[in-house]
Amino acid sequence: LLSELDVLSTIDSTNQHAMQRIESQSSHGYVCLAEYQTAGRGRRGRTWVSPFGSNIYLSAVAEFEGGAAALEGLSLAVGVALVRALKSCGVEGVQLKWPNDLLWQGRKLAGILLEMSGDVAGPCQVVVGVGLNVTMPERSAEDIDQPWVDVASIVPDYSRNQLVAAMLTELLPLLDSFQQTGFAAYKDEWEAMHAYQNCDVLIQTIKMHEQGEAIGVTGVGALRVLVDGVEKQFSGGEVSLRSV
Ligand code: BTN
Repeated sequence: LLSELDVLSTIDSTNQHAMQRIESQSSHGYVCLAEYQTAGRGRRGRTWVSPFGSNIYLSAVAEFEGGAAALEGLSLAVGVALVRALKSCGVEGVQLKWPNDLLWQGRKLAGILLEMSGDVAGPCQVVVGVGLNVTMPERSAEDIDQPWVDVASIVPDYSRNQLVAAMLTELLPLLDSFQQTGFAAYKDEWEAMHAYQNCDVLIQTIKMHEQGEAIGVTGVGALRVLVDGVEKQFSGGEVSLRSV
C-alpha cells in the first residue's frame, strides 16, 4: 500500500518527479501530490493545464515483474478505480472513454498518464499519474483544448482532501493486486462505464483512420470495434478515438 507520501507545493510535473525517483530507488507505494505543476504532462505529448490550488495532480508508483506485458490494461483498471472513488464522494454518472479518460456528460473530468521505466521484459516500475479537475479557474480553462468539466460543477459539496483520500483508497490496493488479477477482473465494470458502448466511433492513428461500432474491450484492455461487420481490436499507444 502507501510507502511514502510527498505533498509538494510547486513542481514541474508529479510524474516527472516520480520518474526521477524511481531511477535511483525502488519506490513501490510512493505517492506525490502537488498544488501546482509548471509543466504538467498529458498523453500524446500534450500539456496538462495545472493551475495552483485548484485541482488534484497525483502520481503513484508501482513495481511489476514481467515488464510491459504485465501492465496491459492497467491504465483502464485505474480508470475504474477512479470512477469508484468519485462515486464514493457523491460524484455520480462518470463514464470512461477508451483508453483512460474520465468523462462526465461528454466532458473531460480527469486524465490518466502511465509512464514506465525498466526492462520491457523484466522487473519494471510504473508511474501512474492522475489529473482531476476540481475547481478549474476560468482563466486557466482558456488553455484547455477540449470540452472539460470539474467536480465543483457536478456536486456543490466536495472536499479536495476527501477526494484524494478516496482516490488513494481505491488506487493503492489496485496497484498491489493488479499483477495477480490483470485487467480481466475489471473488464465488466469498465464496459458498464463505457461512454461509447455500442456507439459509432472514429479511430485514428498517424497511418490510418477507421469508423465502426465500439462493442467493448478485451480481457487485456484492447478496444473492440465492429468495422463493416468484422471485429477489429485496437491497443493503446498512439491511437485516438472520438464518437461520431
Ligand atoms: C491525459 O492527457 O488525459 C493525461 C493527463 C494526466 C495528468 C496528470 S496530473 C498528475 C500527473 N503529472 C503529470 O505531469 N501528468 C499527470
